[in-house]
Amino acid sequence: MNTSFKTFSILSEQFHQDPYRYFSELRDFDPIHYEQNIDSYFISRYKDVRYVLQNTEIFTTKSLAKRAEPVMRGPVLSQMKGKEHTAKRKIVVKSFIGDSLKRLIPLIKENAEVLLSPHLSKGRIDLVNDFGKTFAVYVTMDMLGLNKKDHQLIADWHSGVANFITTIQLSSEERSHSLWCSEQLANYLLPIIEERRQNPKSDLISILCKSEYEGVEMSDTNILALILNVLLAATEPADKTLALLMYYLLNNPLQMQDVMEDRSLLSRAIAETLRFKPPVQLIPRQLSQDAKIADKLLPKGSTVFCMIGAANRDPEAFDNPDTFNIHRPDLDVKTAFTGIARHVAFDSGIHNCVGAAFAGTEIEVVANIVLDQLKNMKLEESFQYKESGLYTRGPVSLPLTFDPIKE
Ligand code: HEM
Repeated sequence: MNTSFKTFSILSEQFHQDPYRYFSELRDFDPIHYEQNIDSYFISRYKDVRYVLQNTEIFTTKSLAKRAEPVMRGPVLSQMKGKEHTAKRKIVVKSFIGDSLKRLIPLIKENAEVLLSPHLSKGRIDLVNDFGKTFAVYVTMDMLGLNKKDHQLIADWHSGVANFITTIQLSSEERSHSLWCSEQLANYLLPIIEERRQNPKSDLISILCKSEYEGVEMSDTNILALILNVLLAATEPADKTLALLMYYLLNNPLQMQDVMEDRSLLSRAIAETLRFKPPVQLIPRQLSQDAKIADKLLPKGSTVFCMIGAANRDPEAFDNPDTFNIHRPDLDVKTAFTGIARHVAFDSGIHNCVGAAFAGTEIEVVANIVLDQLKNMKLEESFQYKESGLYTRGPVSLPLTFDPIKE
């Protein structure tokens, strides 16, 4: 053991720089790590993480009332239970499966092409900052039926709201800014909800306006919270997954070659990226009663964070877990974009990602376009790879060079 867990902190700069350096020791020597500064436990073993995620009666989502509701302005799906959760999940999922998905695929392609085109003659693009972040916002805005001319406003407010949920220790300035962003989003969205009640279309906001729960239409507050829920959940991890996928394929040229020769391997590559570097790194839960995890008794009311990155690298669950291998036999590509996946990037309990299948399709469509259009793609020389984020995590930038296309 190299790390002294008496002084080690998940909130330290060293951990933030490279959490993956610490995962194996955490799993082996401190699998229920207590973080005194924030009075919370961090769970790193695969079997313990699955146990927590699958036992929602004991490990509840109650902490979201403080962690999310103030900026979401109402209860989000992850807070709901039982009949209400099942019914509202069904309503939300309608807008990204079946005919709704068919309607969205051409829009996903168009968004990718529109955003790539100004860079094609230059032979250089930062896949995160010139493309991925805006692409993820565009796709979610299409799903919601919002006008993309307002994308910058939405992106700025979205980032303030996301900061509230994904920052472990928030300063009072950051908190006020997040609340202000949430108010701006509400002021922007409430008139659109009113309008869609009168003139419904085929987008998610209209679907929510038309849907009933227990025979009654949902209130504006409930609809607003679900819109913000999807806006955040769909946008935050999408650009990170695309950048991570490209980074690890570029770093593994033989696997990149396999994908270029057989594009049906892309879904395996995306699934392996989600296992190897899950963009959602932490999932919080709160104990409704005293409970034991890995023989340690945690008191009622405790906050626990499931460490998704650590669980997905547990050798008890995956062979050679620290190797990126799109051909790994334990990859289960058929279930990789569902709640029963072997990896836990989408959660594995009843709150598993409702957009997992959509996310798989979205990333596959955009990755195909990137691979087709950026011929001879390489990481820019002298580029120093860096990731950021404790809660959601992804590359800070990904500058690529490729053969420019003459205008
Ligand atoms: C690669 C991309 C994505 C990843 C890694 C991801 C990951 C996750 C995770 C880990 C959760 C569980 C959170 C918890 O248990 O507290 C979740 C929930 C959720 N996700 Fe995703 N997500 C992705 C894309 C999407 C997309 C594209 C959408 C919408 C189209 C979406 C909508 C949701 C919603 C609404 C929930 C709450 C579900 C519930 O509580 O029943 N996600 N996601």
